[in-house]
Amino acid sequence: MSSPASSVSRRVSRKASQFTESVIREMTREAMKYGAVNLSQGFPDFAAPEDIKRVAMQAIADDVNQYAITWGAKNFRDAIAKKTKWYLGFEIDPETEITVTCGSTEGMISAMMATVDPGDEVIVFEPFYENYAPDAILSDATPRYVPLRAPEWSFDRNELRAAFNQKTKAIIICNPNNPTGKVFTRDEMNFIAGLCQEFDTLCFTDEIYEHILYPREDAEIAHISMAQIEGMRDRTVIVNSMSKTYSVTGWRVGYCIASPEITSAIRKVHDFLTVGAAAPLQAAGAYALSLPPEYYDELQKEYEARRDLVLPELEKAGFGTFRPDGAYYVMTDISGFGFKDDVEFTRHLIREVGVACVPGSSFYSDPAKGSQQVRFCFCKKDETLMLAAERLKKLRV
Ligand SMILES: Cc1ncc(COP(=O)(O)O)c(C=O)c1O
Repeated sequence: MSSPASSVSRRVSRKASQFTESVIREMTREAMKYGAVNLSQGFPDFAAPEDIKRVAMQAIADDVNQYAITWGAKNFRDAIAKKTKWYLGFEIDPETEITVTCGSTEGMISAMMATVDPGDEVIVFEPFYENYAPDAILSDATPRYVPLRAPEWSFDRNELRAAFNQKTKAIIICNPNNPTGKVFTRDEMNFIAGLCQEFDTLCFTDEIYEHILYPREDAEIAHISMAQIEGMRDRTVIVNSMSKTYSVTGWRVGYCIASPEITSAIRKVHDFLTVGAAAPLQAAGAYALSLPPEYYDELQKEYEARRDLVLPELEKAGFGTFRPDGAYYVMTDISGFGFKDDVEFTRHLIREVGVACVPGSSFYSDPAKGSQQVRFCFCKKDETLMLAAERLKKLRV
């Protein structure tokens, strides 16, 4: 028997009623249902590194099976501090400036819940990774969207400046960016940093694609963390994770790096939300984050080859593509296919063509803005990408 609408509305919170389930994760379920090649949700279908898996298995065998320290096992935090010093070039204190979380997903929401009050505004570049909108609702933040405009996905500086005001608590930057593949330039980062200082705001930086960059001849493509910029170290929360760099998205191990004051607030939220991330996987994390630079060089080369394989295939099939400089997604323009919108196109692609993508509208506050875009991921084996390319031929008329 169905319940009357009034009792349903009393049982579900206003917050939970304001957002839908993740469209990205839903597309994976749709792909499974219709046997489509899954280029929607960003997770590899190739094996995770053998040595990292071996350390995790050994940790379980060695009985690293009980709660780790709530804010992270010491050896993992030490490894994070050491790697950060190597890659980003600054010291962090593993005792007071790191919180290990259940993926960067928990890192972002914990950071927001630890710092944002009702009425505070948080600036989000759009298109955005879809979690940020529910993150804002759950942490009582009011999001203010600032467009990144194709094809370069650049922002208008006056527009960004106009989004900052006395209520602004923070800006979220996903760099390298999902879904656009944009890598923010030093000049852009300096400009944003200037506004954060002028308006006394924080910056949450999602840096989970920090090692997935594609060098270009005509421009410098380098990962710049907001925390590296003069005056920003104390007002930046770096959110990062093992998921993408070590191809272990199912492990759910991430971390936040922030000043001691912010870290102690994040640690409290984190403790009562989850107690902690999986202990044996943190042991494997301590190993993974100590790998030599060659590991990251290889990862980058492999992703560059996948990007170069997938882009021409999408173009041949009739998509307009926005060439990514980082991360492992391609945003595409579907206007050449004549579909009413991205949702109808995606349904057709999954059910009739046998390839899953993510409708562009799920990355925008106003669905109309993404109605002629879809996103593909290419963190897949060559044979998976080639199978998708083969199926996409059906799209050509
Ligand atoms: C930008 C971005 N942030 C966070 C996540 C989730 O990462 P994690 O597995 O660390 O929770 C993803 C996953 O696709 C992502 O693309």
